[in-house]
Amino acid sequence: MPFDFAPLSARFGAEARGVDVSRPLSEAALAELEAAFFRAQVLVLPRQSLTPARYVAFARRFGPPEPHVIDQFRHPDDPNILLLSNRKRDGQPIGLADAGTYFHTDYSYLAVPARATLLYSIEVPKAGGQTLFANQYAAYDDLSAAMRQRIAGLVAVHHYGNRKVDSETSRIAASPLTAEQKAKMPLITHPIVRRHPVTGRKALYAVSGSSYGIVGMPDDEAVALLDELAAHATRPQYVYRLSYRVGDLVMWDNASLLHSATLTDPDDPRTLWRITVKEPSHALDAVEVLASSFAGSMTM
Ligand SMILES: [Fe+2]
Repeated sequence: MPFDFAPLSARFGAEARGVDVSRPLSEAALAELEAAFFRAQVLVLPRQSLTPARYVAFARRFGPPEPHVIDQFRHPDDPNILLLSNRKRDGQPIGLADAGTYFHTDYSYLAVPARATLLYSIEVPKAGGQTLFANQYAAYDDLSAAMRQRIAGLVAVHHYGNRKVDSETSRIAASPLTAEQKAKMPLITHPIVRRHPVTGRKALYAVSGSSYGIVGMPDDEAVALLDELAAHATRPQYVYRLSYRVGDLVMWDNASLLHSATLTDPDDPRTLWRITVKEPSHALDAVEVLASSFAGSMTM
């Protein structure tokens, strides 16, 4: 089935028109979408009308769904769907309101990180609510030869959270975890320069967000280097700002992008359904669990 692809920007991102995810797609159509996804890094499938079951079935093509550690906002019909919403029912939030409003890549704090994140747009706010994407292939390619040499082989230490924020009550902090959720979150390592498990291209990986240190490097030196890389990796020339329409199904490649949500007015309704699929575990490279848990020392 030939789809019509239109670029979202001069640098990356594509919209695939004529795709109806509510119906089973042929193997050829799925293969075409998969290739387009890894080529474009961000793929938008507009005008969808999805049930939870069809949405999850489509997502499975890209990897095994992994429910978020925040388990209180799972879709009642399917736990693989996380509700992102600022709506309330009987005074209680029905979803996660301010998720990921800082540059990060999903599940970089897990040994097997996210391959793709999918957002299905149910309700769009009047203002805000975009997602910023930063192209980490381009950010790596543009590094000086000296910096590429300096960071070759370096391994970052990750845990759940946002390195730049100390207080978990900040709206730009990572969504707070309960003590039980924190206990499931070990220290994890990933290379700073990571070969994409599908395309094989080198990209900067998670230099912003959950990276808190570098193996074998004093903390102050490591954080200074990570901050320098993060400032470079999120410069405007690498960033595309995506706005959602109702019915958009947006999916992005976590191994080659950083992304950041933008804040919305809490009284301006917005609802998305999120599914995150992990990389197949054979894609692991240089991943190592440093400690089974460090729940006692976590502050976020
Ligand atoms: Fe995210």
